[in-house]
Amino acid sequence: MKVAILSGSVYGTAEEVARNARQLLTDAGFEVLLNPRARLADIQAFAPEAFLAVTSTTGMGELPDNLMPLYCEIRDLLPAAWRGLPGAVIALGDESYGDTFCGGGEQIRELFAELGLREVQPMLRLDSSVTVTPEEDAEPWLQDLIKALTQ
Ligand SMILES: Cc1cc2nc3c(=O)[nH]c(=O)nc-3n(C[C@H](O)[C@H](O)[C@H](O)COP(=O)(O)O)c2cc1C
Repeated sequence: MKVAILSGSVYGTAEEVARNARQLLTDAGFEVLLNPRARLADIQAFAPEAFLAVTSTTGMGELPDNLMPLYCEIRDLLPAAWRGLPGAVIALGDESYGDTFCGGGEQIRELFAELGLREVQPMLRLDSSVTVTPEEDAEPWLQDLIKALTQ
């Protein structure tokens, strides 16, 4: 199965989580696309069969700049070919930001809903105020995702 990882990061933490996810998925036999500067055409050419988003939050609940062009292209086009595909989101944030905690991930969840993706697993929230090992923290959730995708 082909999995496209959409990643958004300001300082590189989410990028590390995304790279670790690529490793786990690849080890489990998936074909993975991970390119932090991917545009819609790159994702379409890959013909994904599942989506994983890994994004941090910046500003006041905003998506990182590197993910914005792709986010806008997907939102404007909403490719019908992706309807019904499995999708899941890992959101990085900091609970001390209050209401905007993991706001970037929330925006991607909404986008996935508009796309008609099936949320196969509840969004994982990684709080940088309590953990310094987000890659490891994401691993049990990723193992559950692998199970959900292979069912
Ligand atoms: C300027 C700035 C604004 C932030 N705004 C939010 C926010 O609104 N909500 C949130 O949950 N986290 C917020 N964060 C926390 C980051 O999302 C969190 O530290 C994350 O782990 C950073 O990942 P990155 O290195 O991939 O960018 C903010 C961090 C910074 C530096």
